[in-house]
Amino acid sequence: MTMPFQPAAFPYARPRRLRSQPWVRRLVAETTLTPADLIWPLIVHDGAEDRQPVASMPGVFRLSPKEAAKAAVEARDLGIPMVALFPNVNDGLKDNVATAATDPDGLIPDCIRAIKDAAPEIGVMTDVALDCYTDHGHDGVLEDGRIVNDPTLERLAEQAFIHAHAGADAVAPSDMMDGRVQAIREALEANALSDTLIISYAAKYASAFYGPYRDAVGSSKSLTGDKKTYQMDFANAEEALREVAMDLSEGADALIVKPGLPYLDIVRLVSQTFKVPTFAYQVSGEYAMMQAAFANGWLDPDRAILESLHAFKRAGASGVISYFAPQAARMMG
Ligand code: PBG
Repeated sequence: MTMPFQPAAFPYARPRRLRSQPWVRRLVAETTLTPADLIWPLIVHDGAEDRQPVASMPGVFRLSPKEAAKAAVEARDLGIPMVALFPNVNDGLKDNVATAATDPDGLIPDCIRAIKDAAPEIGVMTDVALDCYTDHGHDGVLEDGRIVNDPTLERLAEQAFIHAHAGADAVAPSDMMDGRVQAIREALEANALSDTLIISYAAKYASAFYGPYRDAVGSSKSLTGDKKTYQMDFANAEEALREVAMDLSEGADALIVKPGLPYLDIVRLVSQTFKVPTFAYQVSGEYAMMQAAFANGWLDPDRAILESLHAFKRAGASGVISYFAPQAARMMG
């Protein structure tokens, strides 16, 4: 004898009601993404050309200070609150202690001033780290084959001072030395720059996804070895909490988790634990992967870009540093 099957007459709970029309989807959306959530990273250079393409990052150009100022105006017009500067300096300027990193008339101070002239209402954030200026491509000073922590701190503090003095609104240490936030905070306080934000790359992992960036800033050809003695091990999550707690106690105002999409668990953990503005960095390798898929017609750019950026908001990020920032802001506009 077969069992009579009694299907329910109808489901009572129908989550699809809340998805049935665009207006209701908008009404119940738990998170939103707007241009105000974006930070646009700009690669700047001291070369002769105004714009120089970066091979591994289609759509990204190394910009002269003049072009960087134009980009800042574009950011302002798109409603993007801040740009972040990363330098590609001439190889001839590079040495072991990153002398060029603290030149008050160097590339980054030049760009800060050009941007502040053209679009004073745009926030300018700078990268504090030595790798773009060292002949070995590491973020710190190299002695007997080791990256030495404390001598590096002095260099970073001076670099942050130079940037803030030139008008940077936020300095963002990405070097992962111990105690760098405190060293930078003390230097800023001592030099009447106490309003400068420190947005710390508190949880920064040693990652393969930085490859295209190192090509963009010109450090890949010189980098010897890897950065595993200072950047975090991708096996670890709880260590991120310790790094963040330290940076906050040393005077950081906001945090960055880096890379982005592969580290959404860390974004969630850090933002929920500390309730401090937390930014995610959708790094160069993530950008390159997506551009490669777009070029092949394998992914729809508009949909994939907005979905990837929105994921960071859902994970708890206050905003996203992304090379897609202008393109995404245009799509939202
Ligand atoms: C280094 C720095 C890196 C990035 C920003 N600052 C790379 C590294 O640590 O080697 C990566 C950014 C990106 O990949 O988009 N100070």
